[in-house]
Amino acid sequence: MCHLGLMISCGCQMYRMASRTTKKFYLLCIHKTRDLLPQLDTVHLKLWIAISLNKPIENENYIQQEHAALLVLTKYKDGLRHTKTRIGYSYCPTCDKTTKDYGGKKHLYHQFGTIISDVWRDIKFDYDGDVSTITQRLKDLFGVEPYNSITVYDERINVANTIKSNFKKYNKKENELPDKSLLLHGDCLTELRKIPDNSIDFGFADPPYNLNKNYENWNDGIDILKYFEWCDSWLYELSRILKPGRTIAILNIPQWCVRHFKYLITILDYQDWIVWEGLSMPVRMIMPSHYSILCFTKGKPRKLPGLNLNDKSSLEMKSLTTFKEDFCSRPACIKNRRSQNIKDTQVVSNVWYDIHRLKHNSRRADHPCQLPPSFMNRLISLFTYENEFILDPFNGVGTSTLCAQQLNRKFIGIELSEYYHDIASKRHLELSNGIDPFRKIDSNSSEKAKNSPVNRLIKQKYEVSKKVLQLEIKRIANEIGHIPTKKEATILSAYPIEYFENYFISWGEVTAAARTTGMTENKINYLQHKL
Ligand SMILES: C[S@@+](CC[C@H](N)C(=O)[O-])C[C@H]1O[C@@H](n2cnc3c(N)ncnc32)[C@H](O)[C@@H]1O
Repeated sequence: MCHLGLMISCGCQMYRMASRTTKKFYLLCIHKTRDLLPQLDTVHLKLWIAISLNKPIENENYIQQEHAALLVLTKYKDGLRHTKTRIGYSYCPTCDKTTKDYGGKKHLYHQFGTIISDVWRDIKFDYDGDVSTITQRLKDLFGVEPYNSITVYDERINVANTIKSNFKKYNKKENELPDKSLLLHGDCLTELRKIPDNSIDFGFADPPYNLNKNYENWNDGIDILKYFEWCDSWLYELSRILKPGRTIAILNIPQWCVRHFKYLITILDYQDWIVWEGLSMPVRMIMPSHYSILCFTKGKPRKLPGLNLNDKSSLEMKSLTTFKEDFCSRPACIKNRRSQNIKDTQVVSNVWYDIHRLKHNSRRADHPCQLPPSFMNRLISLFTYENEFILDPFNGVGTSTLCAQQLNRKFIGIELSEYYHDIASKRHLELSNGIDPFRKIDSNSSEKAKNSPVNRLIKQKYEVSKKVLQLEIKRIANEIGHIPTKKEATILSAYPIEYFENYFISWGEVTAAARTTGMTENKINYLQHKL
């Protein structure tokens, strides 16, 4: 009996065998995400890792497919057990600085790299070739040697596609909606049921994730089976009102998208599984940093509207292109690349790494999880043409409908909370009056909800910055050879202990810089540092 199994591809006897003979847990690695999903009933899906493909899949009617899925499944229910693993920084070929911007937090990072996330772009998966880089990483991550073993079940030769498209016959007759955009205040199911079949061009849903978020008017922590039952109901309505050949896109965490997939494949056709790498700070041992955008079409998809860049507005063009992933986004470096005519952009693929979640208060309305406009601009530009109808049943403070208006699309936005609906209406009015609804707003002028049930603290003005205090603790740690206790810091620190007590949430935060080495952005410095 082995401890760990890496299975490549899936969907037949070997899957069952791997599951029976592997003691602790096993992993599957597959080429096409959809081949795997119906097999997941007997184990716990702990993590969905997106790995870059060595040879992206080209399709003349669609964007490039750039990732495979590595699913981490366990036979135990509690949290995933693994080692702390770092991957080295990547460096911009023009300025030789790290491609990630760590802002004022460089002192909290490590010279040997960043904590591994659940999007692996530094190694590539070659479906036809050697997988030793992946097995090696799994060995590092799960601490295999010398205590454990890993067995590779290589099934690539035996298995072709296992899912047959579950195409359902639709009434193909399209219905035209009145030529008018709408913001509706109400329950999405009630409102969706009033909309005729085959009448919208793009449906987008960013539902509550049922992760106990602090919404104004919604219990975000219901029984998970009830949650999925409810999701199936609005997914059905969204599919019903979609015109044939068009797309619905559902944003959720990967684990929930697996369940949405299982339902949607019974009524629509699978189109894509887009990976959105949206966070920039490591928060846990493996940083869960991505969301899935599950795309399904009604019958055969039409050629993707966003593919032909020639007939696009400048906002659409901007939304549909991205920096190649090697290049950094420092303004000085971009300017330098422009002057040297370096080709640093490309058309987007199905891995999005250039759009960050809205973290800065100044551009946020009062909603805990609104989306960045660049995200919605990209989706709308990819899946629709001008004047087409988009619908968002969870419109929040109106990111989707505002972007639709800016991109000359018609829209229907539904929102349950009167408060969020009113904010969205006000922002649309601003847009109609030529005011940018996504402009920076003075952060003290209004309350801004944070993406967490914990209330946001009022911005503090400190005598000494938190960074200086964390570096002071690091200095003491170097001096005494271990991380200081509060008592030791009281005696040894040049700053009063009250600063540490009042500015930080925990002693762990105080000692964060002492537990790592700090990093430097510059590659040459880094090498010198190592010597
Ligand atoms: C994740 S947020 C969407 C945020 C939105 N994308 C934005 O950028 O503002 C989900 C929204 O769904 C709303 N909601 C929850 N249940 C709903 C329902 N049954 N019908 C309509 N809206 C609902 C919540 O009030 C919340 O604003």
